Amino acid sequence: MPYVTEDTLTDIALERWKDIPDPRLKEVMTSLVKHLHAFVRDIEPTQAEWATAIDFLTRTGKMSDDKRQEFILFSDVLGVSMLVDAINHRQSNGATPSTVEGPFHIPDAPVMGNGANMAANAPGIACFCIGKVQGLAGESVTGATLDLWQTDGEGFYEAQRPGIDGPWMRGIYRAQPDGSYLIRTVAPIAYTIPMDGTVGELMNRTNMSHMRPAHIHFAVNAPGYHGLVTHLFQAGDEWINDDAVYGVKEPLIVDFKKMPAGSKAPSGELMNEPFYVVSYDFVLERKAQAAAA
Ligand SMILES: [Fe+2]
Repeated sequence: MPYVTEDTLTDIALERWKDIPDPRLKEVMTSLVKHLHAFVRDIEPTQAEWATAIDFLTRTGKMSDDKRQEFILFSDVLGVSMLVDAINHRQSNGATPSTVEGPFHIPDAPVMGNGANMAANAPGIACFCIGKVQGLAGESVTGATLDLWQTDGEGFYEAQRPGIDGPWMRGIYRAQPDGSYLIRTVAPIAYTIPMDGTVGELMNRTNMSHMRPAHIHFAVNAPGYHGLVTHLFQAGDEWINDDAVYGVKEPLIVDFKKMPAGSKAPSGELMNEPFYVVSYDFVLERKAQAAAA
């Protein structure tokens, strides 16, 4: 084996990292060594710069726990989270596109009745989400559940809202037997990604937007169909073309139809205040039938 020089080091390291029995781990690690060496050769960091990079990653790790995940946020703002999502959901068949889950989903939201208000005590403008869960051929999907989570009308998720007792701005709705659903909530608003950590520190040294356009997160599941994790974004939002985490896909931009006070809500209720109606049909892809034994 040749002695290590700047010229030979990458090849020597690559050769050594080939000695991995697990073929996938071998593929991942040799690619990582190849690209990381190329990156370092490209930027030629000083040793102080490399120490700064190590310190950044160390502090990012130390900030992360079961409530806050600064590494996910770092992956998000680099566009890597959405790239991994895109690679894993290469459908172009008319199913509703997926997006990343993001850091604010909390499992086991309260189960709500059809049309129940999951934002009963929250500030914001009333918003009704209506539509159907259906399959690619337009068939009704039975047994679908819609788990949604979002900010309140002041831009806070449950994890960010101090002094609340119990679940906030999240709920699980069961679609009706014909696939239809009716949700009452309040309209979300655009918000900034958390800027008080290492990612914020980095973003503040750029001219990039750290805003996310107003959206509602949905996880839609039904027996026999592939699960869907996605967002619905408010058309016309100031940051719709500038989402800090690259989540916006064209088919997920939805008109939040503003209705004047005195109008009838989709629930049949006469509303004293203006409100929004969001109409959206989720299209799920059926799982492949298991081969006959
Ligand atoms: Fe969000």
